[in-house]
Amino acid sequence: MITETTPLNAIIATRIAEQGRITFAEFMAACLYEPGLGYYTSPGRKVGAEGDFYTSITVHAAFGRVIAREIAQMWRSMGNPAVFTLVECGAGNGRLACDIMDYVAEREPEMYGALRLVLVEQEPTLESAQREMLSAHVDRLSWLSPAEFASGVFTFSGCLYSNELLDALPVHRVVMTSDGLKEIYVTCTDGEFAEEAGEPSTPELEAYLLRIGVVLHPAQQAEVNLNAPKWLASAATALQQGFVLTIDYGYTAAELYTPRRKLGTLLCYYRHQTEENPYLRLGLQDITTHVDFTTMLNCGAALGLENDYFGEQYRFLMSAGIVEEIEDIERSAISAEEKLRLRLTLKKLILPDGGMGDTFRVLIQSKGVTSPQLLCRRRIGG
Ligand SMILES: C[S@@+](CC[C@H](N)C(=O)[O-])C[C@H]1O[C@@H](n2cnc3c(N)ncnc32)[C@H](O)[C@@H]1O
Repeated sequence: MITETTPLNAIIATRIAEQGRITFAEFMAACLYEPGLGYYTSPGRKVGAEGDFYTSITVHAAFGRVIAREIAQMWRSMGNPAVFTLVECGAGNGRLACDIMDYVAEREPEMYGALRLVLVEQEPTLESAQREMLSAHVDRLSWLSPAEFASGVFTFSGCLYSNELLDALPVHRVVMTSDGLKEIYVTCTDGEFAEEAGEPSTPELEAYLLRIGVVLHPAQQAEVNLNAPKWLASAATALQQGFVLTIDYGYTAAELYTPRRKLGTLLCYYRHQTEENPYLRLGLQDITTHVDFTTMLNCGAALGLENDYFGEQYRFLMSAGIVEEIEDIERSAISAEEKLRLRLTLKKLILPDGGMGDTFRVLIQSKGVTSPQLLCRRRIGG
């Protein structure tokens, strides 16, 4: 495998020379999160036109405003509490949090008085960008590291939300051989990375697939994201009462692990181009995988969360009020050209075919809230 050398190459190569082959999860963790050198832990724009990929947040503020409408409904479902904490995990530059806070400040003044906002980000240097982005709301803003969030000490009531967090968590990779399930490891010889199959590093990999009833076909490769259910367990521990709203691209286990998908879903992004080879441009290209929502649903139930909603992003946005939101924005006297741009960008968010509408899913889970009246459970157009 030919590799392009970056400062991370030498670090990972030395690690392998010292401790032997590493799991793909360790390799991916270094590529994305090695302090100062990983994709998310080094300077530079990652998301948006100047970055490597778009997320729904960068498409239009209407996305965040519709989420805010739903969060306001959550607050009402909890009986308009005097303190309601929003927690965002994987907050990036704070854009989504800002769109949500702006909406609540404008449209829900009573709720705004109750709001606290806690941002959780793996990359601590994003704090200054978040502080700047959220300057109008800074009096209610605080930060937690992922370790503090998962410590069991932090608790809150309100809503924990994330957009494209789970797809950025390091995954193990497995392959089915004639000798049973094996894990894919990363080796390095003379500076060149290669893959080799070996006994799984942990019995959790086989147990994970067993729990969702998946038996891989011969030679089929797949990813196992042990970090996603771990994260949900931390979320369920921290949440005293309220909601967990998760937005990401992914499938049910049956769709994700279908034998048609012989090589899994791992994909890299660099300057808006996709790339299948994770051993290129280490730390400069994003590495990502699709989320197994069956595991998120099952784990939620096992952790005592109610699974209130699971559906495609376009259905969520339509039911939760994106059309009303577009009409509101249009009424606010924008130019004809801006109106057209607004309609085109929103198509991207909601159109199932080729847009972000159907590969993205929304999952809402709750704790201690009786029959929440969520907007997304309304019939579209009803
Ligand atoms: C794909 S980006 C999405 C950023 C933003 N939510 C958006 O949609 O534009 C994933 C973000 O999650 C952060 N992240 C990764 N693991 C995390 C964790 N355990 N807790 C909080 N943030 C994390 C990364 O540093 C990165 O900023």
